[in-house]
Amino acid sequence: MEKSQIKDTIIARVEDFGVPPDIILRLIAVIQDKTHTIHNVVDIIQSDPSLTARILRVANSAAFCRKTPINTLSRAVIQMGERIVTGIALDFCMKQVYEKNLTGYNCSSEDFWAHSLMTAIAAREISRHTNNNISPDIAYTAGILHDIGKAIISEFIVDNNTLMQDWLDKGEVGDFLAAEKQLVDTDHAEVGWMMASKWKFPEELLNAIRYHHNPNNVEEKFRDIVFCIHLADITAMIAGKGTGIDSFIYDLDSNYVNYIDLGENELSFILLKIQEEFVQIIESIRVVKET
Ligand SMILES: [Fe+2]
Ligand SMILES: [Fe+2]
Repeated sequence: MEKSQIKDTIIARVEDFGVPPDIILRLIAVIQDKTHTIHNVVDIIQSDPSLTARILRVANSAAFCRKTPINTLSRAVIQMGERIVTGIALDFCMKQVYEKNLTGYNCSSEDFWAHSLMTAIAAREISRHTNNNISPDIAYTAGILHDIGKAIISEFIVDNNTLMQDWLDKGEVGDFLAAEKQLVDTDHAEVGWMMASKWKFPEELLNAIRYHHNPNNVEEKFRDIVFCIHLADITAMIAGKGTGIDSFIYDLDSNYVNYIDLGENELSFILLKIQEEFVQIIESIRVVKET
């Protein structure tokens, strides 16, 4: 198949791909609003009984539970924090993305979710060091969603991993994204952007998804959030949560120093902090999934 035909097939796949449930779109919209409160989040979640039940079960799992059981959603949200709750909602309601093995990247669905979650936690921490103090809520959500394009593009690269590796070894392409582009005339960042555009996600998320490997190409007003996700993505890889064969095959754009004020010591501290939090969340979600 010609490259342009493959791209057309990928675009058709984006069109056919399921839309996240309305509750996710409402949750993302409310998080985007900087004046929102925890009650707005509770109001949205409680409209979905099965999601509410899932959140209560995670809140009562060993990792979070204190002495007394938590039996109301608002207490669960206060206990865990709204970002963790948002993460649980995205995982639970976007199964078509996060329950898929990314065979083209040699990455299981569990590892894909782990990378997304670790990037989100890192993004929230890094957001506090951005020059314009971007919202930690938006950074967290963008961290979870940044690689959604892989859910579609994976099957289109699966038979050509060796060829892509060959291009990379010979220096014919600079990074994994360029290898994808050379193979199928698009890449996971662009495909993710197509998906998020179709779902009418807010502009900050769209740009974070599209430019997370090429932050210098985005217009100036989105550079803080995009550099934050760019650095968080690499931080997740350093923390041992990459997504398979493409881990570390992307460049860190050193221009991040113009948008994020983060010394080596602070980055080491973030690495420690995110590991601890990651273990707590991933473990509690896993236990609830298995029971
Ligand atoms: Fe990526
Ligand atoms: Fe990533």
